Amino acid sequence: MKHTTPVFAFLCSSVLTLFLSCDDQLKIDHSYYTSEEYKILSEKLNLPVVPEDYELNFPSYLNNVSFINRSINSDKATLGRVLFYDKNLSSDKSISCASCHKQEIAFSDDVAFSVGAHNRLTTRNSLALGSVLNFQLYYGTGTFNSVPFFWDNSAMTVQEQSKNTMANPNEMDMDISKVKYVVNSLPYYKPLATKAFQTSVLNGDQILDAIAEFTNSITNYSTKFDSAVENFSVNNHPTSHFGKDFNLFTAQENRGKALYSSLCSNCHGSLAGQPGKLASNNGLYTNYKDLGAGKNQGEAKFKVPTLRNLIYTAPYMHDGSIATLDGVLEHYSQGIKYNPGLDESLTDYKKNPVKMNLSKQNKEDLIAFLNTLIDDTVMKAEKFSDPLKK
Ligand code: HEC
Ligand code: HEC
Repeated sequence: MKHTTPVFAFLCSSVLTLFLSCDDQLKIDHSYYTSEEYKILSEKLNLPVVPEDYELNFPSYLNNVSFINRSINSDKATLGRVLFYDKNLSSDKSISCASCHKQEIAFSDDVAFSVGAHNRLTTRNSLALGSVLNFQLYYGTGTFNSVPFFWDNSAMTVQEQSKNTMANPNEMDMDISKVKYVVNSLPYYKPLATKAFQTSVLNGDQILDAIAEFTNSITNYSTKFDSAVENFSVNNHPTSHFGKDFNLFTAQENRGKALYSSLCSNCHGSLAGQPGKLASNNGLYTNYKDLGAGKNQGEAKFKVPTLRNLIYTAPYMHDGSIATLDGVLEHYSQGIKYNPGLDESLTDYKKNPVKMNLSKQNKEDLIAFLNTLIDDTVMKAEKFSDPLKK
């Protein structure tokens, strides 16, 4: 017996791998999910037998600039991924987070206003997800140095943002108690909940935490710009790159970088850290219909958005009113309008709005620089894609 068992097992498994009908137990590694659990998951989901690693992978120069000591729990992120793509979380089962945050376009949407439940439209342009560092260094804690969410900076954490989004009648139209009921009635959430929270029945906070864990794991720091800062910061402090050329940039990219530093960085930041301002007004209108974050005396203010992955995130601005990047540069060049909230840095000494007067060459150089901020790795990665079977 001692000798025949391994031989028998070998024969058995090699024969079984030839037949697809063989028992799951022998075919796949069930060290993670039990075969019963994996069977339940596989009915509706395409998930790997062992969760993928969602750990954050920031360039090391960022360790000096900020305090990234966050870690992602892959079990929670896996649960969050399914929730993010699950249309059962909206009142008419037509919309998921991913309907307005599409993986292939940097988790943004390609229309000015997104379609929500019951074909209603959002009132602002969808924001791209992925700038974890710029837009919430400490996702979930809302403390020191964190940058709030939404165009009006009204949510401090992804949990809060998700709860508002779900309850918003124009978005998912389901309050968290209904979401909880639906999630707990779907069998495939049980094994995922067991792994993530050691429970078979999820509460609202756990659902929100899992969504936040997944959302937080979407980053965009694998860019030419980051490599150039990494290289620069071998001998310098990473945020001291203003006024200096990067060795890893072309002459045109460095010209664009110099223009960016003098004209844009005041608000959009050094890009190697946080934005220069949380909210501001860049003179889109004389009269704003939407005041965003600035409710004082008719002064409009909006979140200063990330400039990463811009080529994917059109249309631009809180109302999606500018269709192209050329249009944005033309706005800064000639189109800034006076209004009571207009940022001081965009007015001259007589309080008139400035014209940046960008030449064709200036615009091409700026775009060459902005294109160094593209990271399409998350747009292609399987672990960020829709896991639900059609
Ligand atoms: C119907 C479309 C729609 C759906 C569904 C939707 N979002 Fe959004 N999302 C938006 C819009 C529009 C904004 C900007 C709204 C605003 O600022 O007022 C936004 C903003 C955000 C932000 C803030 C980003 C930032 O930089 O401030 C996060 C995070 C986010 N959504 C995540 C999610 C998650 C997670 C879900 C699912 C629970 C979700 N969204 C569902 C349209 C949607
Ligand atoms: C005074 C602050 C300020 C300055 C200076 C500034 N911006 Fe902005 N920028 C903003 C604000 C605020 C918004 C959002 C405005 C809104 O939606 O109403 C914005 C939006 C944008 C957007 C749209 C992004 C999106 O996802 O919708 C782009 C692109 C942009 N700015 C590029 C630039 C460039 C390039 C420069 C320099 C030439 C620049 N900005 C200078 C404050 C500023």
